[in-house]
Amino acid sequence: MRLANKVAIVTGGGSGFGEGIAKRFALEGAAVVIGDLNLAAAEKVAGEINKAGHKALPVAVDVSQNKQMKSLVDKAVEAFGGLDIMVNNAGMPQRNAPLLETDEATFDKIFAVNVKSIYNSAMYAVPAMRKRGAGAFINIASTAGVRPRPGLVWYNGSKGAVITLTKAMAVELAPEQIRVNALNPVAGLTPMLKEFMGGQETEEMKAKFVSTIPIGRFSTPQDIANAALYFASDEANFITGVCMEVDGGRCI
Ligand SMILES: NC(=O)c1ccc[n+]([C@@H]2O[C@H](COP(=O)([O-])OP(=O)(O)OC[C@H]3O[C@@H](n4cnc5c(N)ncnc54)[C@H](O)[C@@H]3O)[C@@H](O)[C@H]2O)c1
Repeated sequence: MRLANKVAIVTGGGSGFGEGIAKRFALEGAAVVIGDLNLAAAEKVAGEINKAGHKALPVAVDVSQNKQMKSLVDKAVEAFGGLDIMVNNAGMPQRNAPLLETDEATFDKIFAVNVKSIYNSAMYAVPAMRKRGAGAFINIASTAGVRPRPGLVWYNGSKGAVITLTKAMAVELAPEQIRVNALNPVAGLTPMLKEFMGGQETEEMKAKFVSTIPIGRFSTPQDIANAALYFASDEANFITGVCMEVDGGRCI
């Protein structure tokens, strides 16, 4: 088992990529705290993990709120004795639209959920990892931060910030054996995709997206979980500051 005796938090673990990551980590021996705005979704995923004989704890959290992030980390440490892996996966999309059509409140919310969450998690996860003598952050950014699509300007920018924060945190925390890496998924068939397509998920729109991905399909939670597992495991203990595309060649 590649994550035996590790404790992981996966934000947004109630759906999509986060659910895939949480389930894969649990299978590999980690105790997983599933933090999600949607407590019922987190409870469902945690219930499935526990039923399969692994360890999971659902926690309600809004990752944009500093005190709620503190409570999430505290609950992980209380329940499982420490924290080794922090997956900042919870995020919010922008509905595809011309750049002048996004109102200020939506812009602020995108940056609070996608970017401030990284600050919030660092404040509490770094001290917990210091107590363990090592740790691994995995931030879920996006190909949007590397190769932006039109209509998603503010979301693209938020993911660009996640990529830069990943590298900046990595270089500062490296001497303490706390590694910080990011994954850049290409579009995946999760509930979020509809927003990236402007609120309508038609077969024609889906075909248009897939036509931009050389391997010829959408990403899956399994693709993202496999890559996250490598970054989280000790096999990657010399890997930090890497922002890796999981994109079937989209960014080439
Ligand atoms: N689906 C894609 O096409 C795609 C592509 C690239 C990157 N991403 C990124 O992957 C990550 C996961 O997205 P997904 O596609 O699995 O989405 P999803 O909609 O399936 O799941 C997102 C989860 O995050 C939770 N969440 C939302 N806001 C939250 C908050 N403030 N606090 C806590 N939890 C919150 C939701 O309740 C949901 O369970 C996001 O960061 C997203 O930006 C998605």
